[in-house]
Amino acid sequence: MDARKIIIAVDGYSSTGKSTFARTAAERLGYVYLDSGALYRGVTLKGIETGCVGRDGIDAARLEECLHGLDISFGRDGQGRLRTFMDGTDVEDRIRSIEVSSLVSPVAELPFVRDFVDGILQQYGREKGIVMDGRDIGTTVFPDAELKIFMTADRKVRAERRMNEMEEAGKKIGFEEVLANIDERDYIDTHRKTSPLTKAADAIELDNSDMTLEGEMDWLRGILFSKFGICI
Ligand code: DC
Repeated sequence: MDARKIIIAVDGYSSTGKSTFARTAAERLGYVYLDSGALYRGVTLKGIETGCVGRDGIDAARLEECLHGLDISFGRDGQGRLRTFMDGTDVEDRIRSIEVSSLVSPVAELPFVRDFVDGILQQYGREKGIVMDGRDIGTTVFPDAELKIFMTADRKVRAERRMNEMEEAGKKIGFEEVLANIDERDYIDTHRKTSPLTKAADAIELDNSDMTLEGEMDWLRGILFSKFGICI
């Protein structure tokens, strides 16, 4: 591993494998991995628990109040797995539920929610040596990131991946429902007013529809070496 530390921003559509890519890259580089989507999911979970986020809409004023003093952070559990904690409680499984997945996009549209999340991310990003994934990391959160990657993949491949992930977590859900959720989130992510998902002008695109994780790591290895002289 090289001593030079950079910030790597990994943005892209949902279920393109950003988090697996970013987490694996961070492990191989000895960097810290940060999942920005987990923070939006944490805020959504808080909203559901307090009754201000639901299928009937969002009570934005009450949600904003709930964020005062709310602590969302990343840590590891007893087995060394990366987890998301909310006010000290491990909420990793709960933030991955289909309920949170289907309500998170409109929550992530709210400017005060984006400010809340950006504050946490920028705090973590004070030190270099970070791989962060999300939708607006290379455009808004860290526009000066040394390496920006924009991930895409075929929507059906993405739906299949999401379905498998959920099955592994013991949740059975139909392909059409997962596909509809992905299409809806793509639409909201790319059309919202605040920080919509767009490819930064200086981002490198990675379409991983037909790639394995090792193939992706080979691709990354080439870029890190040729652009930064970093070896993994
Ligand atoms: O990557 P994910 O599916 O866990 O993200 C959850 C939601 O949060 C998704 O609807 C998009 C939103 N998000 C965002 O708006 N900006 C980010 N930087 C990361 C996620």
